[in-house]
Amino acid sequence: MPLSIDYQPVGKPYCRPSDGAWIVTRYEDAIGVLRAPNVSVATSPSELAARVSDRLDGAFEDLAALVGSLPILQNPPEHGPSRDFLHVIVREMSKAYSYGRIDHAVSRLLERSVGEIDGMSELCYGLPDVLLAESLGFSSDEMRDLRLAGRQVLHDWQPAMPLREYERRQSLSRYIHERLTARWRSHGCPILGGKARLDEIELSLPARQRESAVFFLITLANETIAGFFGNVLHLLANRPDLQDLLRRTPEAASAFVEETLRLCGPLRHRARVVGAGGLTLGDMTIPDGALVHVVIESANRDPEAYPDPDRFDLARRGPPSLAFGAGPHLCVGAVFARRQARRFFTVLLQRFSILPGDAPGLLFEQPEIRQFVTLPLRLQPRQREN
Ligand code: HEM
Repeated sequence: MPLSIDYQPVGKPYCRPSDGAWIVTRYEDAIGVLRAPNVSVATSPSELAARVSDRLDGAFEDLAALVGSLPILQNPPEHGPSRDFLHVIVREMSKAYSYGRIDHAVSRLLERSVGEIDGMSELCYGLPDVLLAESLGFSSDEMRDLRLAGRQVLHDWQPAMPLREYERRQSLSRYIHERLTARWRSHGCPILGGKARLDEIELSLPARQRESAVFFLITLANETIAGFFGNVLHLLANRPDLQDLLRRTPEAASAFVEETLRLCGPLRHRARVVGAGGLTLGDMTIPDGALVHVVIESANRDPEAYPDPDRFDLARRGPPSLAFGAGPHLCVGAVFARRQARRFFTVLLQRFSILPGDAPGLLFEQPEIRQFVTLPLRLQPRQREN
């Protein structure tokens, strides 16, 4: 494993004595939880924001609106319309960004990258930021500013934050709200074909919910794909043999991306709550109301699903990994993220050899993610072959 975080060994579901949460690590059990009809997403920032907002008479309106409709934290009936809206945006992006256009964006990004770099800020966020910026009608710098502001809104959300912390997040949310609405009021949303189409969509999804869904793309979706790119770059920097193999056999890019999603996926676990009737997994029953941690990174190493699971195997046959989740919240951007990843690594490796930087990378401390904050790398230009 390329990174230094330990993962839970695979075994039967068990109830953790320290907090009463159930830990689910086997592949079949993980799928069972994520797809179960009586399982919902666990306590969300939206509930906390709404609570504060109510208490203070709407003083945190923008914060509550922004985090209150994040699709990833919604359950039915709110979840469906947000997800449908995101499907439309991501489908249009997939249509707009063929392999050739992605290659072009990666090539432009690489013009600025050579020598000692921070792989995260200089490479990994670049591609998703550019594609989303163009799609939503912003410059790349504006997109980066929105993403960084959004990160502060969502980062390290504590149940009992001091009031000034809510105030800080409210003012950042206000800034994001104003940037999004001002741009769309004047130009509409390019990927949706301008202003008229946006107004039409608003009939099925109120403006604030639409904004929150887009906010999800700008923040969590972009963070996730950038986090994945960083984990893979870290692996490649330490595995020159894999770099050579991908250069020699670019057609292996698809298998490479699948195997790296399985072993280096950025989302470590997802939280769910079991509903009425409880949930039976094998010979264990998780009771009604229980909090469950679905440990994606363990399920992706379950030897029943993936024999010799720690081996990086490009010829591996097995079920799709759980890197993109499963069930009603299955990643909407999975196909598009895979396409970006294949082209990003293929084009990058044609141009450069990737070497570790002088200092080790620094990981985020949040337990749900495996993602670098900084990743020093050295990019060494290669001779063009032709
Ligand atoms: C390697 C990159 C990515 C990974 C590993 C990833 C992973 C995931 C996972 C695990 C979930 C489900 C979370 C849960 O069950 O609670 C999810 C949801 C989602 N992802 Fe991704 N994602 C990636 C990239 C993207 C991209 C590029 C987009 C859009 C352009 C995107 C859009 C979404 C959306 C909209 C959802 C919410 C689905 C819902 O709640 O209904 N993702 N992603």
